[in-house]
Amino acid sequence: MTVHTSGASAASSRTHIARRTVDSEHPTYWYKDAIIYQLHVRSFFDSSCDGIGDFKGLTQKLDHIVDLGVSAVWLLPFFPSPLRDDGYDISDYCGVNPDYGTLDDFRGFVEAAHAKGLRILVELVVNHTSDQHPWFQRARRAPKGSPERDFYVWSDTGHEYEDARIIFLDSETSNWAWDPVARAYYWHRFYSHQPDLNFDNPLVMREVKTILNFWLDLGVDGFRLDAVPYLVERENTTGENLDETHSVLKAIRAEIEARNPDCILLAEANQMPKDTIPYFGQGDECHMAFHFPLMPRLFMALAKEDGAPIAQVVEDTMRLPEPCQWALFLRNHDELTLEMVTEEEREDMWQFYATHRRLRINLGIRRRLASLVDGDRKRIELLNALLLSMPGTPVIYYGDEIGMSDNPFLGDRDGVRTPMQWSPDRNGGFSCAPSVSLYLPPVVDPLFGYEAVNVETQREIRSSLLNWMRWLIEVRNAHACFGRGDIRFIASGNSRLLAYTRCLPEEKVLCVVNLSETAQAANVDLSEHEGRVPVDLFGGCRFPPIGALPYQLTLPGRSFYWLRLSSQDEAPTVCEPCEGGGTKPELPDAQATRQTRAEARRQG
Ligand code: BGC
Repeated sequence: MTVHTSGASAASSRTHIARRTVDSEHPTYWYKDAIIYQLHVRSFFDSSCDGIGDFKGLTQKLDHIVDLGVSAVWLLPFFPSPLRDDGYDISDYCGVNPDYGTLDDFRGFVEAAHAKGLRILVELVVNHTSDQHPWFQRARRAPKGSPERDFYVWSDTGHEYEDARIIFLDSETSNWAWDPVARAYYWHRFYSHQPDLNFDNPLVMREVKTILNFWLDLGVDGFRLDAVPYLVERENTTGENLDETHSVLKAIRAEIEARNPDCILLAEANQMPKDTIPYFGQGDECHMAFHFPLMPRLFMALAKEDGAPIAQVVEDTMRLPEPCQWALFLRNHDELTLEMVTEEEREDMWQFYATHRRLRINLGIRRRLASLVDGDRKRIELLNALLLSMPGTPVIYYGDEIGMSDNPFLGDRDGVRTPMQWSPDRNGGFSCAPSVSLYLPPVVDPLFGYEAVNVETQREIRSSLLNWMRWLIEVRNAHACFGRGDIRFIASGNSRLLAYTRCLPEEKVLCVVNLSETAQAANVDLSEHEGRVPVDLFGGCRFPPIGALPYQLTLPGRSFYWLRLSSQDEAPTVCEPCEGGGTKPELPDAQATRQTRAEARRQG
């Protein structure tokens, strides 16, 4: 049974999420109602003034995440690492990089986050290790054919598995690298300093289980499974999505299920739809998988002012095993990947979003959300409205809630991993270290730099992107149909207007998105909902009732509606605030901050 309570203030929205849905038959489906906030400990907040973010700093800043209204935090890798791939090159799976704090700091963080109602997801990066990992150092010295050597994948010739593509095209020319100590080649799907583990060796799986249990015992609520399509290699295959890889994932699932059935697995499988869906198995592999097929199509639809690419991919991917859910995202810590679109589509995306070569990496675009759309607030809002109303669980990348930009002059993908911009103060309020010690420079350009774009300023401005995002999230959180309902696209006769319903038996919402820069009108066939009254989820305004004839909708350029299709009885007789919406949530401390500042100014 699903029980809804009424909308609550933003400050209590997190507890609100936890209480809103009580699902007694399936208590472990919490992730279907979640919104995930992705962040890097090193980029968030530096409590020790050494220029690098840390767990204590992150713990201090948890209220920002709670105030946003999200319900889970996904942490990028924070384990000991030589940091040649920003932590995805792990040298110790059961520790914390000393730059970020200690295991006790991690414990403190998890405790504080849980107390505030936030779930924690960490990374499980076991396709490969760092070449500095003791397993690799031992393997390269161990006798050929020994179990220690066979922790990794070796070759005498470097000619096996030639059908496997190279992923890091800008930096690697082969998936094999020569190791002078082992006097053999080792296999790596990513950087050559990241040798792939050998899942044909049962000892590797034993270690993976130890790692899972270590973090489960520390209270984590989920794992993002990095680079899962490539776990196993076989001759005459692409080395991606193999049955053997799916068997490994089933074993991982069984392990976490036995220890904590509430814990989830989130797959990073950047594949075509037909190859991505199998990562859910029959509901016995990953609970969630990133919707890589949808992500580029959201941007394409906006660029082409045509909703068709979105509708097509969503329809192709909407049938999932019951406990499963897509994880939706616009941007993350990597490039906006264009591996799984046609060459023509990729070329169009580059032309539209990354005309300069410097803005590209491998087959993608290394820019943040705000800079991709030239800081255009309307397009940022539209993309977020799509993100929060498509079927799945939205994932928001840190800084995108305030419209942070990137620094294209930094190497690799560092340009989208710059320090969180907290205030207009030195180093954007991220750290009090001398700026020369910062792990990366903050963004300083006049449009997006921390003096213009930061949390402190946006908390005080009612119309800021941050406050708008909080409103959007609050409205979404108040309507279970966004996380759990089905989706149906409705022909609007105008390809620039994308119309779809999100429905549960007890709740129906109509979403209409105008992808065009200019005003659009359409006659939408809503006869199925005849007699219902559309009510705006944000302001509570009542629209004309739906009749037997097509329903006329007009929208200004790049705008959207979320309309509850209420019965005549439920609908307000006049425009009035409705559940979970109605008024833009005021931050509890905004007024207080204003007063304190005014006071300080008065006192000189
Ligand atoms: C991560 C990347 C990383 C790669 C290799 C990915 O899928 O998201 O940031 O470079 O794995 O570990």
